[in-house]
Amino acid sequence: MSENMPTGTLTILGLESSCDDTAAAVVRVRVDGGEVIGAGEILSSVTLGQADLHAAFGGVVPEIAARAHAERLDVCVEKALAEAGLGLSAMDAVACTAGPGLIGGVLSGVMCAKGIAWGAGLPLVGVNHLEGHALTPRLVSGQGYPYVMLLASGGHCQILGVLGPGDYRRLGATIDDAPGEAFDKVAKMLGLGYPGGPEVEREAKAGDPKRFRFPRPLLDKPGCDMSFSGLKTAVRRQRDLLVEAQGGLSVQDRADICAGFQAAVSDLLAGKVRRALADFRAETGAEALSVAGGVAANTALRGALEAAAAAEGFSFDAPPLRLCTDNAAMIAWAGAERLARGEADGMDLSARPRWPLDKARAGMLGGGKKGPKA
Ligand code: KG4
Ligand code: ZN
Repeated sequence: MSENMPTGTLTILGLESSCDDTAAAVVRVRVDGGEVIGAGEILSSVTLGQADLHAAFGGVVPEIAARAHAERLDVCVEKALAEAGLGLSAMDAVACTAGPGLIGGVLSGVMCAKGIAWGAGLPLVGVNHLEGHALTPRLVSGQGYPYVMLLASGGHCQILGVLGPGDYRRLGATIDDAPGEAFDKVAKMLGLGYPGGPEVEREAKAGDPKRFRFPRPLLDKPGCDMSFSGLKTAVRRQRDLLVEAQGGLSVQDRADICAGFQAAVSDLLAGKVRRALADFRAETGAEALSVAGGVAANTALRGALEAAAAAEGFSFDAPPLRLCTDNAAMIAWAGAERLARGEADGMDLSARPRWPLDKARAGMLGGGKKGPKA
């Protein structure tokens, strides 16, 4: 890459290893005058999940995850390059997740990226994992700044105002659990499988969302912060009441609990997002809402978000699910945006367990079993 701002294309190798997915991708972007323009071209995107390694423990075990990342990253990189039909010499840089996340996994990725950068003489770009999620609408459709992004997964829950690369406003975040964690815990207490989100959604289809009215914590309070732990407790209490009264749960009871819980999560997220849209639009003129994270797969939630966006005069766009969940294409893209602006890291790049996107606001409490949320 030249010292001057590049114009033309950049081809970036991206690595992701912050939770339980080992991923590598090759993404090509167009650059003009120090800015990335248009959507990105994903030449390859390989993800090796670890669900089989963690299933017996009901959640991600950090040490097992770190070891698996260290063992699989090189395989993943080879596969991504082969699928793109390119060698390392065709890359303009290597980008890796440098945080936030489970530190052993992040370290594995950073060390692997450093080795590649050193060996192939490529610039190294450390990427904030949350920035990867936040910029996905730009990778997918060339979304212009500013816009609002809801990140909702097993590890994240925040509403972000996206103003530009490296320029974020955290409009709201969870003060305890992430919504995906709540789905997983509710599934577990109802005897459903892991991950819980798709199981709860499937059960909810046959359920009556009005039979059990679960609380919507913080929804009537000012601000856009969210809470899911009281909701989870209310579901447990309802289950216990039914079990005590009838000796167990009927199929319909379980479906109704799932439907009621899903409705509460959707109302909560969409209610807070709607408030954030109004505030952010007044300040910045933003008119677009997007989502990322595994919970964004939920159809009821998508419907509620679409309605909230329409009510505030916003467009709503959800990236394809494989780009909503953890992947390396988003890391390559976020790296390209930094690189286009002349930013790169040295060999002293460190792995960070916590790394809030909004520098003006401290990280939220609550690590969660999938690692810190900001
Ligand atoms: O983004 P993701 O794949 O991984 C991280 O958490 O980083 O998100 C996984 C989470 C899990 O908690 C899972 O239960 C939830 O997303 N999830 C869903 C659905 N599909 C996955 N939650 C609600 N409804 C779904 N259809
Ligand atoms: Zn993520």
